[in-house]
Amino acid sequence: MTHIPTYIFNHEIRALNISKIRQFDDHVSAFEPLIRLTLGQPDFPTPQHVKDAAKEAIDSDFSFYTSTAGDIKLREAASKFVEIKYNLKYDPQTEVIATVGATEALATSLFTILNPGDYVLIPSPFFSLYDSLVRMSQATPIYIDTSETDFLITSDTIDKAIQNLDKIPKAIILNYPNNPTGVTWTKDDVISLAQTLSTYPDMLVISDEIYSELVYDQIHVSLGEYLRSQTIVINGLSKSHAMTGWRLGLIFAPESLTTELLKTHQALVTSASSITQYAGIEALTHGINDALPMKQAYKKRRNTVTQALRELNLTFTEPKGAFYVFASLPKDLPMTSYDFCYEFAKHFKVAMIPGDAFGDAGEGYFRISYASSLKDIEIAMDRLAQYVTDLREQ
Ligand SMILES: Cc1ncc(COP(=O)(O)O)c(C=O)c1O
Repeated sequence: MTHIPTYIFNHEIRALNISKIRQFDDHVSAFEPLIRLTLGQPDFPTPQHVKDAAKEAIDSDFSFYTSTAGDIKLREAASKFVEIKYNLKYDPQTEVIATVGATEALATSLFTILNPGDYVLIPSPFFSLYDSLVRMSQATPIYIDTSETDFLITSDTIDKAIQNLDKIPKAIILNYPNNPTGVTWTKDDVISLAQTLSTYPDMLVISDEIYSELVYDQIHVSLGEYLRSQTIVINGLSKSHAMTGWRLGLIFAPESLTTELLKTHQALVTSASSITQYAGIEALTHGINDALPMKQAYKKRRNTVTQALRELNLTFTEPKGAFYVFASLPKDLPMTSYDFCYEFAKHFKVAMIPGDAFGDAGEGYFRISYASSLKDIEIAMDRLAQYVTDLREQ
């Protein structure tokens, strides 16, 4: 094969690393069979009625491009869904866009607003896609370490981060319930953040609420309710309806923003898949509570994990949503997160993600995904107990 010189490539893309989660996964795959507590996706099948709707869409030749923003019935269903669930009011005609997963919603949002040299605030630890998309836009991520504030961004830390900059950031990306930490905000937190963020009217807020249907002991509050004019709310069906492979995301934003967002969305993908959109209409109308049985199962698994960690005296911030627990390495252990997880996978055949995959603020932690069967989680926790006991005895 002819050698392609590196200067051919876009330099931001060349500098991007393959996600550390993937790298870790590759490295430990030599130790199969493994119990994988690494996955960021539901282990449940898509609800049957949603699958049936997709079959019907195929059989009735619902096979053409939809309008750029998505089929109007889907936008109406989405608008109604977020109104019933989160008290949000977005006009389905002009303020809702169906995207190819939350991933494209994030890409569309960032590519629409960023110019080279812009700053974007990212609370850290973070979902690594945010960092990649900001860098692809030749903008600069500014990380705000949340490990000292129970992984919640606070008004104080936002103000401090901005004071140190020579210009106001173009955007801040918030993600509650959070990947990788599982923490989420309360209504009071949202109100207080909205108040602070409104003092920076030139800074947009991209609020990734993809885990909104997986909040355990409280109700999800959307930033769109309290800071509508500045916020792009991102959601989708990947986690709520166990539909990661279907690729359906949603953007909710005021028309002044969607007018520009639509140009990017159209250039990137034309429209989301028609079959998937048809299934999405079913999910968001007759399946508005499809997440409930899954949520109950996740909650039981979460309790199993947190109970096991407590018995081992491992510290973590109580996870209140999504399906992750972000725990500290045993104290005084001269080991990196990577080595801790690598050795565990090698000797005990259980894979968990080292915390540094989510930014520097994640070093010293490991992420357990409990989107796996309760049986596997129980076996994994027994093995973790043995591993930690062995390490402490060394
Ligand atoms: C915080 C967060 N945002 C967005 C996504 C991407 O979602 P989608 O599958 O809808 O593209 C994920 C997937 O794991 C996620 O964890």
